[in-house]
Amino acid sequence: MAMNVLHQRICRSDSWADRMHGTTLPWATRDVELDGEVLEIGPGYGVTTRWLAPRAGALTALEVDPVLAADLRDGLGRELGVDIRHGDGAALPFPDGSFDAVVCFTMLHHVPTPAEQDRLFAEAARVLRPGGTFAGIDSRLSLRFRLIHVGDTMTVVDPAGLPDRLSAAGLAAPATELGQRSFRFRAARPS
Ligand SMILES: C[S@@+](CC[C@H](N)C(=O)[O-])C[C@H]1O[C@@H](n2cnc3c(N)ncnc32)[C@H](O)[C@@H]1O
Repeated sequence: MAMNVLHQRICRSDSWADRMHGTTLPWATRDVELDGEVLEIGPGYGVTTRWLAPRAGALTALEVDPVLAADLRDGLGRELGVDIRHGDGAALPFPDGSFDAVVCFTMLHHVPTPAEQDRLFAEAARVLRPGGTFAGIDSRLSLRFRLIHVGDTMTVVDPAGLPDRLSAAGLAAPATELGQRSFRFRAARPS
């Protein structure tokens, strides 16, 4: 996984979990129906998965890093009944129309290229049922963000350009909203 040691420490910290669980995830998923079948792309150490699990009707999480995926499967997956898969969000191993919601939190900038991000958006659209929602957050560019990512993959997503990219992926009603450090986004598979 392309994360430096500082970044790995942050993503496992109590302060990260407190911030994500306390404010960021409720904001990111406001008005998103999570009570059906939900796919999370890029669970990392599972901070976001732990928050989602009791809110989702059924939760599947797909992680590209094989070691993280195995650790999650043996730990949080067993504990909370989450189906943990190893795989790439840009080539989802699921049939069309498998999920009611697809979410990803603070992971898009870890996808190595904009072209792969666009493939991930198209894959999210493909595996959603008609009317299903694709939603999430990613980070806004800042000096702190640049420092945390020294030596990491850092493919920053421009929130202003994201709606056009989501539309090109086949999603409808794309929207973004800026927060202090991050932005949230949302789009739907047409009914
Ligand atoms: C910064 S972590 C975020 C983890 C968690 N969502 C959170 O907010 O705490 C990003 C995760 O996305 C994973 N990831 C990156 N590209 C991916 C891809 N194409 N498919 C699935 N997971 C991916 C990384 O391996 C990493 O575990």
